[in-house]
Amino acid sequence: MPRLLLVFAHPAYDHSRVHRHLLQYLPDDLHLTFRDLYELYPDFYIEIEEEKQLLRDHDIVIWQHPLYWYSCPPLLKQWIDLVLEFGWAYGPGGFALKGKRLLQVLSTGGGRHAYQPDGFHRHTLRQFLIPFERTAHLCGMEYLPPFVAFGAHRLTDRTLFDLSLDYARLLRHLMDDEDGSFVQALMRCEYANDCLPTLHPTLPSTS
Ligand SMILES: Cc1cc2nc3c(=O)[nH]c(=O)nc-3n(C[C@H](O)[C@H](O)[C@H](O)COP(=O)(O)O)c2cc1C
Repeated sequence: MPRLLLVFAHPAYDHSRVHRHLLQYLPDDLHLTFRDLYELYPDFYIEIEEEKQLLRDHDIVIWQHPLYWYSCPPLLKQWIDLVLEFGWAYGPGGFALKGKRLLQVLSTGGGRHAYQPDGFHRHTLRQFLIPFERTAHLCGMEYLPPFVAFGAHRLTDRTLFDLSLDYARLLRHLMDDEDGSFVQALMRCEYANDCLPTLHPTLPSTS
């Protein structure tokens, strides 16, 4: 069974609607390790060795966060800057993360239609996420298609509930994917969400 490490970064979790839902419906039996960075490190002083050991001990790493200015909140960036050390995560002798998987789980204010070349944001979300994808690749990790809650402020409770169930389902499929066929199908999707309707035909559109 792969071991899941969920690295969560939300600077205003008290006001969160989307991520609160997404986390609330994750079943206990996934046995994932949950790290709330803003709770652990309110002063931004990250315990680098502890974080590195957690990375060594897990197979799939999740970076879950709201999209802030087309990127992640600052504490996750700080975590990436400090924990993914040269000579450990990348560069000469830097193989600690080789072969692990990275899943980004995020929410956006903009709808999916706004994240198109002819949409409001002029680029797809995948294009904005290239720095994360390249970071994963530089560390020898496989970057999975991200799971996204687009249009956060317009999501109905019902859609949010369905998204939360899909997130839980996605993690379970990643855990149970003994023959690799799920990840093979997943890698053909732009977003992990697109891979799930076949498993859950009633999934409403999140665009
Ligand atoms: C400082 C800040 C920057 C933001 N930047 C973006 C952005 O670049 N693109 C976008 O689509 N939404 C942006 N948003 C909207 C958030 O992504 C949205 O409020 C969040 O994903 C909702 O999730 P939550 O209910 O868990 O807080 C931003 C919000 C804040 C507060």
